[in-house]
Amino acid sequence: MGKKIFSGVQPTGNLHLGNYLGAIKNFVKLNNDNENDCIFCVVDLHAITVKQNFEELRNNIRETVATFIACGINHEKSIIFNQSAVPAHSEAAWILSCVARMGWLNRMTQFKEKAGKDKERASIGLYSYPILMAADILLYDSSHVPVGEDQKQHLELCRDIAQKFNNDYSVGTFFKAPEPLIQKQFARIMSLKDGTKKMSKSELSDLSRINLTDDKDVMVNKIKKAKTDALPIPGSIDELKKRPEAKNLLGIYSSLMDLTLEKSIYEFEGKNFSEFKSKLSQVLVEKINPISLEIKKLINEKKFLDKILFDGHVKANNIASKKLKKIHEIIGF
Ligand code: AMP
Ligand code: TRP
Repeated sequence: MGKKIFSGVQPTGNLHLGNYLGAIKNFVKLNNDNENDCIFCVVDLHAITVKQNFEELRNNIRETVATFIACGINHEKSIIFNQSAVPAHSEAAWILSCVARMGWLNRMTQFKEKAGKDKERASIGLYSYPILMAADILLYDSSHVPVGEDQKQHLELCRDIAQKFNNDYSVGTFFKAPEPLIQKQFARIMSLKDGTKKMSKSELSDLSRINLTDDKDVMVNKIKKAKTDALPIPGSIDELKKRPEAKNLLGIYSSLMDLTLEKSIYEFEGKNFSEFKSKLSQVLVEKINPISLEIKKLINEKKFLDKILFDGHVKANNIASKKLKKIHEIIGF
């Protein structure tokens, strides 16, 4: 039986290697399996949980679609749309916010990280963000949700919300509890400047990440400048435990090459980082540069990108509005 795949990516610019290796690469694999129904959503309502510039947001929505296509997602075999174009998402999020409990949301570590020390000044949207994410997933009866490691807790919350709604309204399995699809290895790509921090769009230093639109030379330079340590590459995973930067770079190499970490370690054991880095740069350019060139080409094809979003939103709206209608009936509206 095929899977009902749903995932979302925020149009906040700077899509990076972490997004690709942690999530989008997996979207492509799932999309290539003809048995699966895939929906990929550009989650613009999630993006405005922090202040966005009007013009940049518009461009970033298109750039996210361009990135999906450049990475290999087939828009004829999937639904690609932006969240704000389907009003059922916001409405279902409100309804589910009456089901979710404060205590559940208070445990979300991503909110704590993003809000930082000054929680009082964070937007309410940033706090209730996982509820909107649950609405995204549940409106489409999604069975599987491919995401990076950082979204695992949000997926668990989604399952709790689905179950509580089903229990509260005695509706059996009206909402399907989705399974997260998180890669076993390399589901968390770390910053090139600090192997204990996630590679992220919002990190101030651009040297901390490989953007999917970086030029060849920029990529090579970032790998050259990536933090390492003085020791040569070890011979076992165990020895990498206290060397987060080395582990991350070897992880990136393995993920790009579809190798296990063990195999990569075996290949580079005893070698120094300059040798390893030059091989890593070569592989990175080989795999990511074609994507980068394609994004830059597609980003100018506004009509093509807008048509994908338009067609996608019609199909998504058709599914989501029917589910929302049933939710209304269950609640008594
Ligand atoms: P976002 O850019 O936050 O919308 O994330 C889009 C997808 O990329 C989500 O599935 C994230 O879990 C994934 N992702 C983001 N950053 C990383 C990272 N550093 N390593 C692995 N996956 C990531
Ligand atoms: N919260 C996700 C992130 O920041 C994006 C997202 C929104 C999502 N809705 C989703 C992911 C539904 C999977 C399914 O990465």
